[in-house]
Amino acid sequence: MFEPAKTTYQLNDGNQMPVLGFGTYQLTKPALMNQSIKAAYESGYRLFDTAQYYRNEKMLGDAIRNLGVPRQDVFIVDKVTEMNQGHDLTIDSTNFSLQQLGTDYVDLLLVHWPIADKFFETWEAFEELKKQGKARSIGVSNFTRSQLELLKTQADEMPVVNQIETHPYLNQAPLIKFDKDQSIVTQAWSPLGRGLVLDNPMIQKMAAHHEKSPAQIVLRWDIQRGVAVIPKSQMPARIAQNADLNFELSDDEMSMLDVMNRNQRTGNEPELVYELGKQYKQFKK
Ligand code: A2P
Repeated sequence: MFEPAKTTYQLNDGNQMPVLGFGTYQLTKPALMNQSIKAAYESGYRLFDTAQYYRNEKMLGDAIRNLGVPRQDVFIVDKVTEMNQGHDLTIDSTNFSLQQLGTDYVDLLLVHWPIADKFFETWEAFEELKKQGKARSIGVSNFTRSQLELLKTQADEMPVVNQIETHPYLNQAPLIKFDKDQSIVTQAWSPLGRGLVLDNPMIQKMAAHHEKSPAQIVLRWDIQRGVAVIPKSQMPARIAQNADLNFELSDDEMSMLDVMNRNQRTGNEPELVYELGKQYKQFKK
């Protein structure tokens, strides 16, 4: 039986991470944040994902405090943005993020995008933040296999999570296998392809068969292939629906979803971001 609050992946550093989380990208209004976090918590979500880039850390911290639950009952993920990378800026910006969130640790701290010139010193700062207990676990986001292999040449400890864009139109099978072989849990951002995959007739057919929605089919596929998910929704009914995953896809259905890949991204290509420094152009002041 799938119970979101109790279902976790074992991380390679000994910690556990909930399989399901709530993504807060573009949630920038306090009332909506409060409503969404409350709906998510009541539906069984325990992981809440933010980033310095989202500019909503304070709002999320307040919304979590408004739940009135013990700190250890929730799992907070934060990410260090490109302009805050480098050793000292990573440390200082993380301290500021903790202040904004109103907590003295995050459960998981991620490098938001790989960038060439601050690559190793940022990770060194991450290792220090973990030693100081300010990040219980450390990981990366949007790293390719070659970037993980490069990191391994100098890292004292490797990331335990790689949060990447993946959904049926971008199934990332080779990277997910590589992550798994390296004991790195893959966490999917935009697991619904920002809503794009929900119109797929085959997914809709499976949804009708299971009396579930297309979103539930896609999220269940991820969990069955060993991937963690952080779907976003601003609608309480959908937030609840996305946590209601207590059914199983057959091997045939899993295979049908596996072959929908089109290498179609909704976000940046990490290899190009890394090579060309494109990420700075994406950053809005
Ligand atoms: P909304 O906020 O109106 O619910 P992703 O997490 O892949 O980025 O996808 C987010 C998009 O998917 C949002 O546009 C969200 O819209 C939509 N969405 C999330 N959950 C569902 C659902 N259960 N059914 C339909 N659309 C959904």
